[in-house]
Amino acid sequence: MYYPEEIIQEVRDRNDIVDVISQHVQLKKQGSNYFGLCPFHNEKSPSFSVSPSKKMFHCFGCHAGGNVITFVRMYENYTFQEAMKVLADRAGIKLPEVEMTEEMKKKAAKKQCLYDINKTAATYFYYRLRNQGGELGLNYFKSRGLTEETMHKFGLGYALQYSDDLVKYLKSKDYDDELIREAGLGVFGEKEGMRDRFINRVMFPISDANNKVIAFGGRVMGDAKPKYLNSQETPVFEKRNNLYGLNFARSSRSDNFILCEGYMDVIAMHQAGFNQAVASLGTAFTPEQAMILKRFSRDILLAYDSDGAGVGAALKAIRILRDCGMNGRVISLKPYKDPDEFIKAEGREAFEERINNAGNGFMFEIKVLRDSFNFNDPAQKTEFQREIASKLLDFEEELERDNYLHAVCEEYRISEDGLKKLLFAMATKRGLKRERVEVSTEFIEPVSKSGDDDPDGYAQRLLLTWLTEEPEKYKKIKDRISVEDFIDPLYRKVAESILEQLESGKTDPAAIMDLFDEIEEQQRVSEIFHTKLSALDTEAEKEKAFYEIVVRVKEESLNKSRSEAGGAEDIKKMVEKKKVLENLRRAGRL
Ligand code: CTP
Ligand code: MN
Repeated sequence: MYYPEEIIQEVRDRNDIVDVISQHVQLKKQGSNYFGLCPFHNEKSPSFSVSPSKKMFHCFGCHAGGNVITFVRMYENYTFQEAMKVLADRAGIKLPEVEMTEEMKKKAAKKQCLYDINKTAATYFYYRLRNQGGELGLNYFKSRGLTEETMHKFGLGYALQYSDDLVKYLKSKDYDDELIREAGLGVFGEKEGMRDRFINRVMFPISDANNKVIAFGGRVMGDAKPKYLNSQETPVFEKRNNLYGLNFARSSRSDNFILCEGYMDVIAMHQAGFNQAVASLGTAFTPEQAMILKRFSRDILLAYDSDGAGVGAALKAIRILRDCGMNGRVISLKPYKDPDEFIKAEGREAFEERINNAGNGFMFEIKVLRDSFNFNDPAQKTEFQREIASKLLDFEEELERDNYLHAVCEEYRISEDGLKKLLFAMATKRGLKRERVEVSTEFIEPVSKSGDDDPDGYAQRLLLTWLTEEPEKYKKIKDRISVEDFIDPLYRKVAESILEQLESGKTDPAAIMDLFDEIEEQQRVSEIFHTKLSALDTEAEKEKAFYEIVVRVKEESLNKSRSEAGGAEDIKKMVEKKKVLENLRRAGRL
């Protein structure tokens, strides 16, 4: 840990988890917990819960979970230290300067190294563009109408035509071959050794939402192929989770985002004053990106290329947005190819007008569909109407569906009654699209009598859950269960803390969370604290289930010892476990 436990505890305690999460998620009180729509996956009914007493959040749909620090780490894509800093500031706590331990250094080091080397490379490309040898690049950007201010804002740069210019520089700064390769800045050739990946290209640094350079896109200045070369994915660069320009667009005061296809489009938009423009990163728009944009509750306007490929990409993006509960609108750029060309030819005001006239995403889909049919053929006209009806069925809400039905009929001169009948016939055949089935919360499965092994450690997890939910149960098992009965290393670590807390008489699940550095581990721990136990109604049923879980844990523990027993000490432990188990079985209860 970087910080003493007391400090972490103070940061946790002085940042009310409900307050912090409420800044990003609309929460509603329900019993002793709060519920809302999960910000980490798309859903229509709330399965994201925040528990003030446990000081934890948990999503029963996607299984995200943790304490207030985990939330900030996941939501902002921050490291543990960054999240600590933000939360400490928020609560007015001064963090002590702390030396990192060797182990922590190593763990944190990899990502930090990647951020560092990317920043160094970005600075270098930036320098190259503006100095001797960079004229080619500078002229290229100028020829595309970029101002010095814009080039500076986006940190644009240039990679020289020598094959190892950057590599040499990075080595002089003590970065080693392995890191250069891993960051995607160099490639290793048998003969030449390490050489630059980006050669003779204008460079676009790609930043994450927190302004850290995570990758590069490099464009040729002529017609060579590939037009753009991008960094490969690295631990800091996940294409599907980032958007070009979001670091600026997130603080734009606009009530919309303009989603473009390319780097140059985003840059041209920003230069024209539309600093709410973003783009996906050399891949199609992803649901993850949609979920990130959704956090800001703004309109999404698509400014995709007006050619066939662009229309296809726009249709896909509209569907993704709809699946994520958003309604994209489409900006028409005709007769120009893309936002960059439009702005150059028509300027800011004309684009503003196109924004105001942006068409509804659904109507855009229908228009594209319309163009694939020939209405001189009545059969095709019928087919068109069938397709419309089928699409309308995707709307779950009747009112919304009717509104669209009305709009489509108006636009394409279709009889409203006729289409309604068609819709009705289809609906009865196929059923209206149902709400996505939410993942149900777990129930206690009957404890197997056959002694099957339990690879997921389900019984161990249930026992831990139960102990945090009903600490008074601890008395009953304290002489029968020990830390060693927990086989899974993660469960064992959790058990160690819980048993210790129970022994001292106060439980604090949120504190246990911070024993784990990795978000993935924290999700598993969160699961422990949010397994539903309520499936059992009567006290007697509960008692019996609890007893069976204890027996099960002991059985597994004994089986494990059997398979591993070696020395005299092991055998002694095994015999003890066996005795406890036999007693438990004989008693038939706790
Ligand atoms: N792209 C890519 N690799 C390619 C071509 C395109 O990664 N070989 C990605 C880039 O992110 C690019 C986006 O797809 O920005 C859109 O491509 P395109 O429209 O061809 O490029 P523009 O951004 O419009 O660039 P320019 O105006 O310079 O042609
Ligand atoms: Mn372009």
